Parts: sequence; C-alpha cells; structure tokens
Amino acid sequence: MHTVNVGIIGLGTVGGGVARLILSHHDDYVKSYGIDLSIKRGCALNASAAAACGITGDAFTNDWHEVVSDPDIDVVVELIGGEHPATEIYEAAFAAHKHVVTANKALLGRHVERLAGLARAAGVQLRCEAAAAGGIPVVNAIEHSLMGNRFLTVAGILNGTTNYILSRMTTEGLGYEEVLADAQRLGYAEADPSADVDGFDAASKTAILASMSFHTRVTTDDVYQQGIRNITAEDIAVSKDLGYTIKLLGIARNTSEGVEARVHPTMIPSTHQLAAVSGAMNAVYVVGDAVGETMFYGAGAGSFPTASAVVGDIFALAEPLSRGEQPLAEVEPFGHVLPIRRIDELTNSFYVRLRVNDEVGTLAPTVAAFSDAGISISQINQLETETDGACSVVFITHEASEAAMTKAEKALADLDGVREVASVIRIEDISKWTKGVFAN
Ligand code: HSE
Repeated sequence: MHTVNVGIIGLGTVGGGVARLILSHHDDYVKSYGIDLSIKRGCALNASAAAACGITGDAFTNDWHEVVSDPDIDVVVELIGGEHPATEIYEAAFAAHKHVVTANKALLGRHVERLAGLARAAGVQLRCEAAAAGGIPVVNAIEHSLMGNRFLTVAGILNGTTNYILSRMTTEGLGYEEVLADAQRLGYAEADPSADVDGFDAASKTAILASMSFHTRVTTDDVYQQGIRNITAEDIAVSKDLGYTIKLLGIARNTSEGVEARVHPTMIPSTHQLAAVSGAMNAVYVVGDAVGETMFYGAGAGSFPTASAVVGDIFALAEPLSRGEQPLAEVEPFGHVLPIRRIDELTNSFYVRLRVNDEVGTLAPTVAAFSDAGISISQINQLETETDGACSVVFITHEASEAAMTKAEKALADLDGVREVASVIRIEDISKWTKGVFAN
C-alpha cells in the first residue's frame, strides 16, 4: 500500500471540511479500502485557520507554490475559488504532473475546456464533482453510471441561497427583501448576494453540467442569466393558485437545433418533483434517452457536504495511486461543438402581470398589445382592486417567441392605463424535457 499524499490549497469552509473529514476518517479509510490518505501540506492565509482544522507544524504553509512544487504530493486540492491564482495553481500542478481536484465553479464554468486540455496533455486528471451542486454526486453519475445514454435535459435547482429565499417567500408569503435580509442574518446568503440572487452561480453550474452531459463547449457566458430580485410574494401566490411553483432553475437541453442553456425564475407545475425541493437544498433532474427521468437531491453547499464530494474525487485518484498505478489521463474535453441556441431563439408560455388602472377601457388595448405581437392569450385573471384604484391583471399566454414577448412588453408599458408591467415569468413546458426518451 502506497501512501497517497494530498496538498490542500484553501482551508476555509470547504477546505477545512476536507481536512477534518480526511483526518477524522483516516483509520476507517485504511481499514475499509486499504487506502492511506495523508494531508502532506495545507495552505491557508494564517496558521490559526489551518490549526483549527488540524493542519499544524510542517504541514502548514501560507504559500501555494510550496504545495504544487512538493515532489511527494500526488493530488492538489484547490479550494480557494475565483480565477486567480487558481488558474496559476492548476497550470503549475499540471506542469508538475499532479492531479487537481476542485470545487471551483466560476473558473471551470469559463475555462474547463482549456484546463481539461492542459490536464490531458500532462497525463493527469482535473476532477470537479463538488463544482456542480456541491455534495450531490451528479457529475460522477453523468460521466460514469449514466454514460450509455444520450442526455436530453439537465434541469436543476443549483443554488441553495435562492431556493431558500423563494421557499420562504412561498410558505410564509413574505417579500424578497425581507427574506433576503433574514437569510443574510442567518448566514444563508452572503453580505453581497449578487452572485447567487442574480443567477451567476447557477449559470456556472449549468455551463459545467451542460458541457459534461452534451460533450460540447458551453461556457457561463453562453448561459442566459436572470435572477430572482423581481419575484414578488404576489406572483408566488397567484402562481400557486394556478398550480405552479416558481423556482430558479438552471435548464440545459440538447435539441436537434442546438443546445439551450438558461437560468431564470421558472414556473413549473407544483406536482413536479423539483417543485417539492425546499429550503437551501439542491436537486438535479437528468433525462437520458435510455434511463428516462432521474433526479438527484441533496445539499449543494456547506462544509461537510461539499467535502464529501471532494473526498470522493480524491478517492477516485487514490485507488490506483495507492496500488502504485497512475490514474488514466483526463479524457478529450469535448467530442464536438454544438451550436448554442440563444434565448431570443426560444419559445415559451409566459405569465405576465400588469398593474393597471381599474377603469373602463383599460383591458381592450392590453389584449390588443398581445395580439399585435402575434401572441395568443390562454387565460386572463383580474385580481382585487387596491386602495389607489389600481389592480393587477394576470395574463397566461400560449407558447410565444421571446422576441414577440419583448415586443408586447414594450407596447404594454406604453399604454395609458398600464401603470407597470410588474412581472414577466417563463412557464416551462416540462413535456419538452423528456422528448426523445426511448419508449419501453
Ligand atoms: N452560494 C451557493 C449556493 C453555494 O447558495 O448554493 C456555492 O455554489
């Protein structure tokens, strides 16, 4: 049995969890798997942060170069996040023929193709189970257990912060700002919540999952991104009455016309499994042509859940390394490059809520604005009149193009009786998600 030496760069929430998990389970790993994992070096900004997770003495360094240049280290675990110096760490690790394990979604969402190519050229692996949906082992499922399938759809609740906010707005009828402030107080949301609430974090994860599932280049910049700041308690309540739940979904589909990749608030039937995923939990719904519908549920963040995914990746490398064998090199990043379908090429049904003056003649021009844009309406609902003489009118459209909806939205906003176009939310046709599954 060879000892497998690991160097961890970044000993914060996730890195600290990885160190604590490996140190606390070390003897069990030896007993159960015959694998001796040793944390040879741990890199943090200061010694006390490292000591808090069990990294002391010579094992501690505050210079990442000492980790990647250590000839005994087999696996470099990068858990500092961000693009720099993470990029330089990968480059140096690959140049030294070391494998890299990471949870860095922002970096991989943009540069997975180049970095996986560097790993391949160096004959090593770049593993990132923890980068998409934290503790949920969906990357391994896509890359291994389900690899006999052609993947059709990957749709998920990929951000715990926004799911926590939307869940509380739904169950307690509270407004966005109020729940956000509470989430920040309780540590569910960052002081600057923009990466979460504006959809960037979910877009990175959508890009990673789409690239892996469809074997094509999808970067974070290819993913349409709209966050949850404009969702109101009123929209959530009306949606509920209509049989829908609003979730921030990352949706990637592999269609005959190209790949769709988008993150936006989405109305899905309240009976769908994703609608039942509440609080800060994540879930990834994966449809393969052979397996049909599958759903993976679990914690998308947090010290130990994310560490669980990182340590799983370390073991995938440690199994051959402990026998004195080299793991296989990273596979070719993408088999082909499929066209990306931009959001304005797509069609959807829409939920549109207008705040209008509740008076004679207001409604007719609003209906005309939809028909002038070529949009067919399937339902109209007028809500209670407010004390200031305004009321909300909710329209549900039949399927319409994004371009037509943009045109209608502009025309509606210009009408005299319309105080504001308060909300436009996409209603997902989930029957499209399973198109292409083999019949049994
Ligand atoms: N901030 C993320 C979330 C976790 O709220 O799910 C890390 O990607």
